[in-house]
Amino acid sequence: MSEKGIFPSRFLFCIMTISMFLLILSSVFLLQFGNTSLLPRSGFKLILVNGTVYLKSNVKNELKLPFFLPESSQADARTPVKTGDLTCHKPNYGKEMCVYRQRNIESCNADQALLRVYMYDLPSEFHFGLLGWKGKSNQVWPEVNDPTRIPAYPGGLNLQHSMEYWLTLDLLSSNTPSAAVVRPCAAIRVTNSSEADIVFVPFFASLSYNRHSKLRGKEKVSVNKLLQNKLVKFLTAQNEWKRFGGKDHLIVAHHPNSMLDARRKLGFAMFVLADFGRYPAEIANIEKDVIAPYRHVVKTIPSADSAPFEKRPILVFFQGAIYRKDGGAIRQELYYLLKDEKDVHFAFGTIQGNGVNQAGHGMASSKFCLNIAGDTPSSNRLFDAIVSHCVPVIISDEIELPFEDVIDYSEFCIFIRASDAVKKGYLLNLLRGITKDQWTKMWEKLKETVRYFQYQYPSQPCDAIDMIWEAVARKVSSVRLRIHRESRYRRYNEHQVERLR
Ligand SMILES: *[C@@H]1O[C@H](CO)[C@@H](O)[C@H](O)[C@H]1NC(C)=O
Ligand SMILES: *[C@@H]1O[C@H](CO)[C@@H](O)[C@H](O)[C@H]1NC(C)=O
Repeated sequence: MSEKGIFPSRFLFCIMTISMFLLILSSVFLLQFGNTSLLPRSGFKLILVNGTVYLKSNVKNELKLPFFLPESSQADARTPVKTGDLTCHKPNYGKEMCVYRQRNIESCNADQALLRVYMYDLPSEFHFGLLGWKGKSNQVWPEVNDPTRIPAYPGGLNLQHSMEYWLTLDLLSSNTPSAAVVRPCAAIRVTNSSEADIVFVPFFASLSYNRHSKLRGKEKVSVNKLLQNKLVKFLTAQNEWKRFGGKDHLIVAHHPNSMLDARRKLGFAMFVLADFGRYPAEIANIEKDVIAPYRHVVKTIPSADSAPFEKRPILVFFQGAIYRKDGGAIRQELYYLLKDEKDVHFAFGTIQGNGVNQAGHGMASSKFCLNIAGDTPSSNRLFDAIVSHCVPVIISDEIELPFEDVIDYSEFCIFIRASDAVKKGYLLNLLRGITKDQWTKMWEKLKETVRYFQYQYPSQPCDAIDMIWEAVARKVSSVRLRIHRESRYRRYNEHQVERLR
């Protein structure tokens, strides 16, 4: 046994020695080649174009090796020959955005649109009926041809979560004669659900929460609860829902408390949300859902009227409730740290009525605007700051930002970890250390960015509605992925079951 054991190990030893020797020899050879080579030591790349090998170097005087290049070929190996396949692998951060999209607003049809959307004809009590709109008998949707005559959404703080309304209007307008309403061709409403990329649920969930969650008169159940229950019943009975368990459905639930009763039962759908603060991760997460900006409540400052660095006397501005439950304890700590500073404006109270104007004026006169976590990680304050061109200072570790896959917020916002912000002197030292030039760069960027956060009807290229549809379109392939993975076994198994019957 010992002899048999020794032989193979000796043999192995020999092989290893020889390979080591060869390895060392080859490295020495390689090194020498490198030093004495006629070829410069820059990077060379062999490129395969149409089955022909090209040698590419990064040096100016490119060496063309005759044995690699066919004489007749005029192809320049430095530029990709075929654009299609090669360019689609280039890094394309932000390149999917509205600004780059080829749009043909005059003629938007299902082939040109980024997203084909099927919308349920839900009874009007779920949407425009909540605004007090009453159609003629059998009329589900209002006329949208004339933008001055669409049903109005209630003003004030309700507006913050009004994207449900703007998105629905935009879909309705996608079917108007093209001359009537000019809009970007991001989404188009299709009437055949089999041809849709996504199924839109036109429930004004935030308005339903804001306006109808309190019991009235002899009601045992609030209208908001009632509507949610009805909605769940309706949806789960639809073939469109059953097809993929609702995975290709889009539900707008921007107010953190909206859809409170239905969110679990409809949790497979894609949600449009403000943040994930009040959702368990399995119901809502950044892979599946879309974060939409709040509709700002202060007025947008026109770029031309925006005060530059030296015309903004206030260094730091904050207005909001100081005492908040949950994550909001940090507001209190910051208040005590900053309250005695001369150039800091730290004001109490939510903004309402004339307070909105005052807050808008305050932000427009400030260099930096604080965005501190409240009882949810997000708030409309960030978007109020943006439209005031006041550089946002974000102190909210759990915040989710809209369209962050195509927008780099660090270009125009300052992020500070909550744990740093409460250190004495940290915040003000950091902000006072930012030079006029640095600030002005962010301010310029802010002015460009404002358009992404505007809600309006009709929608305009690169406004919030256009951006939301694009964000949904970017999710469609992952929706497909989830659907396809689930159907791996379904097709065959259902077939079997039928045969066994
Ligand atoms: C690559 O092949 C296609 C089809 O054979 C031909 O049309 C094209 O000219 C070729 N390109 C180059 C650079 O040889
Ligand atoms: C809907 O679209 C599917 C797939 O394109 C098609 O097979 C079906 O006939 C269409 N239904 C109607 C009513 O047009």
